[in-house]
Amino acid sequence: MTVTFSKVGVVGAGAMGRGIAQIAAQAGSEVLLFDTQPAAVAKALAEVFGQWDRLHEKGRIDADAAQRNKALLKPADNLAALADCDLVIEAIVERLDVKQALLAEIEGIVAPSAVLVTNTSSLSVTAIAAALKRPQQFAGFHFFNPVPLMKVVEVIAGLKTAKAACQQLAAFARDMGHTPVQAQDTPGFIVNHAGRAYGTEALRIVSEGISDFATIDRILRDQVGFKLGPFELMDLTALDVSHPVMESIYRQYYDEPRYRPSVITAQRLAAGVVGRKVGEGFYSYIDGKAQVAPEPPTPQVAEMPPVWVSTRAARRSELYQLLKDLGAKIETGQSPSPQALSIVAPLGFDITTVAVVERLDPSRTVGIDMLIDDAATKRRVLATNPATRADMRDAAHALFARDGKAVSVIRDSGGFVTQRVVACIVNIASDICQQQICSPKDLETAVTLGLGYPIGPLAMGDRWGPTNILEVLFNMQTVYGDPRYRPSPWLRRRGAIGLSLLHEENQ
Ligand code: NAI
Repeated sequence: MTVTFSKVGVVGAGAMGRGIAQIAAQAGSEVLLFDTQPAAVAKALAEVFGQWDRLHEKGRIDADAAQRNKALLKPADNLAALADCDLVIEAIVERLDVKQALLAEIEGIVAPSAVLVTNTSSLSVTAIAAALKRPQQFAGFHFFNPVPLMKVVEVIAGLKTAKAACQQLAAFARDMGHTPVQAQDTPGFIVNHAGRAYGTEALRIVSEGISDFATIDRILRDQVGFKLGPFELMDLTALDVSHPVMESIYRQYYDEPRYRPSVITAQRLAAGVVGRKVGEGFYSYIDGKAQVAPEPPTPQVAEMPPVWVSTRAARRSELYQLLKDLGAKIETGQSPSPQALSIVAPLGFDITTVAVVERLDPSRTVGIDMLIDDAATKRRVLATNPATRADMRDAAHALFARDGKAVSVIRDSGGFVTQRVVACIVNIASDICQQQICSPKDLETAVTLGLGYPIGPLAMGDRWGPTNILEVLFNMQTVYGDPRYRPSPWLRRRGAIGLSLLHEENQ
């Protein structure tokens, strides 16, 4: 197999440059690594060589492969050494002026046919290209950290990038064992754009006093299947990295409300409470382990009241069956008796509004999130309203915990935690499709590989019903009067026909 680019220059030997150099050499390219700090190159080579030794020890590569890789990866003493590279990858400090100056210099050194790329995660590829004589030969090639393990790379076309350059880069990504996705040059490209909803909506929920960090993490892990809750994730990435990204994407989209960051992270960043690496973030860390307060116990309830289920509940028959299975005394009348606990299951609406609209006694009304089918979740989430009596809340908690499934109780909000976060994820993904930043297929690939979501955001919408997602958004828009919940036209149009199973040519 011949590799698409036989001689590759990598400039910047930091976390990213070294990983890129490693996988390029593994693909069979000769790789020259340059950095203004020679010590950085030496350190990078030592680390990558060490990786290959370890891979060999574990039997993942044979001795010949380790030796061949080492022979392919070499230090470069100066930029002139990159003269006959057919691809140069820039992975230096994230500053427009510094990247522009470096790439203009490289452009004067390499052959006109050479392709130059930047690994920028937040700057405009088009803006960097403005300093170049051959912008058609320049693109974004955005890898994720750690490069050898994160198997996706965004190929970003600037305004003047030639299609052929993008095709070569996609082929080279495959040579390296990575999956390329094609993106237009827009703030955050695909992955950092699609990832906006998870943290910001969770922060919004905390800022409204609906629930605490640890409960929100538990809910999103157990109900949706995210590997890390949003606060665990922010602790891992650290707020000195993630808060500026939130601000930058928001500002670059001219204050689009969907991406609005939170004062919570601004303040924590100012205080240096940035995450795991400093031992203190949303969680405290002792020996690298998050300290999590235990969940509140299931209340003991001496006498369980009868239960009435709203006729307008989402997944009503499923909810009814669940209550039966849990051994509830179910009332079947048109309205609840004066003793009954009323269970409502709205999409997007708050429990208070539902109680009033359905003419229920709010003090005996509790909500349950039924967006996701009960069998598919490991946790049930209940919500009180400000008038809910403690005995009714405790009865609902104990009842829904009878079969041993975890239960969280949150305060009233337009939409439950999962509804809010999932609806915002699906909505932002739909808007990425609307803006034609990438194909729906590449969006799903980029998000599952780049963000590690259990399924792509469009598949998520389809699994729990695009019309349900739309209902959540429409109703939340009513409750909050906030344009951040305005559904994307793409989602509105496809609500009835499904989001992911469509013909690409008609997108
Ligand atoms: P880093 O700080 O680990 O390494 C940057 C290296 O570039 C340093 O060794 C520095 O000495 C060198 N450098 C700085 N200016 C230079 C110049 N003019 N010429 C040659 N070398 C120079 O940075 P990291 O994390 O590797 O990031 C590099 C680029 O990749 C940035 O644009 C960043 O935004 C982007 N990126 C970073 C990700 C991450 O998770 N760290 C993920 C995706 C992209």
